Amino acid sequence: EPKPVVNAPGDLPVTAAHRGYSSVTPENSLAAYAAAMRTGAELVEIDVHTTADGVPVVMHDQTVDRTTNGTGDVARLQSSYFTSLEAGSFFSPAFATQPAPTFAQILDLMDTGASDLLLEIKGPETRAEVDRVIDMIAEAGLEDRVVVQSFDENVLRYAHDRAPQIPLGLLRGTLDADPVATARALHADYYNPSAAALRTRPSVVEDLNGAGIGVFVWTVDSPADWAELADLGVEGVITNRAGEYEGWKAAQ
Ligand code: G3P
Ligand code: CA
Repeated sequence: EPKPVVNAPGDLPVTAAHRGYSSVTPENSLAAYAAAMRTGAELVEIDVHTTADGVPVVMHDQTVDRTTNGTGDVARLQSSYFTSLEAGSFFSPAFATQPAPTFAQILDLMDTGASDLLLEIKGPETRAEVDRVIDMIAEAGLEDRVVVQSFDENVLRYAHDRAPQIPLGLLRGTLDADPVATARALHADYYNPSAAALRTRPSVVEDLNGAGIGVFVWTVDSPADWAELADLGVEGVITNRAGEYEGWKAAQ
């Protein structure tokens, strides 16, 4: 049975740990993913790109320069080079042994905990690259524990064609004139604006929820913002501070 997309009245927004528990561990690392699962977060968010030889890997930026000891565009690197990089020192010497992770490693980690995956496929990706990611989720038997989200509308189209049963989220930095129509046209189950975008027209939450479309808001790290979003009735909060948000929810 599919999970409900829209919250019941009074439900607090679920936690989506942004790039893992990224305020205390290096973003998008295996350590960040594991730490996020330990907070009890309902979802963990990561970003995926594909290497030149077709291997889905976990990294926010288009290049490895900021968060690893290597250099270059992920899409132009061989996976053997990518996986040889260390992806923790940029955050703290205490994490100097963190490898630059593959998506396969994240799927393995998911099996060890209860948190679901909010998977951002960064784009631009080819249809074959999106198919590969979707197929790996299916092969791992994790289709009912993943939401795929993207700013890239083509990524959502490809994902819908390959596996219409996997829920989709459309990421937006500004609101569309008619978010419900836009989400529907892309078969998106979730419409995920930045907090700044949502504040330009908070009433869209009601419109979207009324149409059965959920709302996850990024990237929200303060108790005042959590309270505001809970009052608006959004479905999820994407936060760097998953542990603190879990604590805040428990205190409500
Ligand atoms: O999950 C939404 C958020 O991650 C989008 O922005 O740049 O952090 O991937 P970014
Ligand atoms: Ca992201």
